Amino acid sequence: MPESFQGRSGNCAGIVATALKLGYRHIDTAWKYGTEEGVGQGIRASGVPRKDIFLCTKVSHEYLRAADFARSVEQSLKRLQTDYVDLLHVHWPSTDGIPLSETMGALAQAKRAGKARHVGVANFNIALTEEAMRLCPEPLVSLQAEYHPYLDQSKVLAFCRKAELVFTAYCPLGRGRLFREPVIAEIARAKGRTVAQVALRWLVQQGNIALIPRSSNPQHMAESLDVFDFTLTDEEMKRIFALKRPDGRIANPAGRAPAWD
Ligand SMILES: NC(=O)c1ccc[n+]([C@@H]2O[C@H](COP(=O)([O-])OP(=O)(O)OC[C@H]3O[C@@H](n4cnc5c(N)ncnc54)[C@H](OP(=O)(O)O)[C@@H]3O)[C@@H](O)[C@H]2O)c1
Repeated sequence: MPESFQGRSGNCAGIVATALKLGYRHIDTAWKYGTEEGVGQGIRASGVPRKDIFLCTKVSHEYLRAADFARSVEQSLKRLQTDYVDLLHVHWPSTDGIPLSETMGALAQAKRAGKARHVGVANFNIALTEEAMRLCPEPLVSLQAEYHPYLDQSKVLAFCRKAELVFTAYCPLGRGRLFREPVIAEIARAKGRTVAQVALRWLVQQGNIALIPRSSNPQHMAESLDVFDFTLTDEEMKRIFALKRPDGRIANPAGRAPAWD
């Protein structure tokens, strides 16, 4: 299960090293988070071989022109102290009129140059993802988007399954909002698990979803990794699906977000 970090903690390198020692292998970062340097240091400090780690970063919307894109990738690799990332996402679609064909060409070029093993998009709606797939000379493998029980992503998930894209779910804990949710708390009590574990298990059990919970607390990290030895019943899954609500979306920057599905 993935682990991820944002630039809120002053000890990014230590947190990354701890996560890797606990068994996390998927690390999600982005140029925009300002954490790439810490992630690179943490990987080195952990002693875990680079080849055993699935490292993902993203190119920000400011750099979607081909030349800017290539420079951003170079800068990310330098900060991460690595020659390649395992997955490179476009962080948000352009709202500045940059042709998607140009950005997809640059994304494919990063892959062809060996700087990204796989490529994908983040925060694209279905129509934009379809267009990106059509325009990109290399196959896209991942659509990263927000997903947790308060947000209905059934259309996007069905699309990803059909298009053979992994749905990489960000904010899988609703950025903490789920911890006040009585239905999940009740299920967690009945299972002898925590709210975080039940919320993450609900995502795992749907299939075709990679999760990237963020934590700077080693106890939380260990807990979030320990979700593969229990099962939610169909009834429990349904109760959690029923928590979706129209205002459930968290990451919705005005002027940047596409028309969501
Ligand atoms: N592509 C995008 O545009 C985009 C946007 C947003 C996020 N993301 C990615 O998704 C990742 C996760 O999203 P997020 O940070 O917004 O939200 P999140 O993972 O849903 O929630 C993070 C919060 O949950 C807490 N937490 C984590 N595990 C816990 C546990 N087992 N028990 C109790 N509390 C726990 C963390 O606090 P503690 O530190 O105290 O554990 C933190 O406050 C980010 O780090 C980033 O990599 C991508």
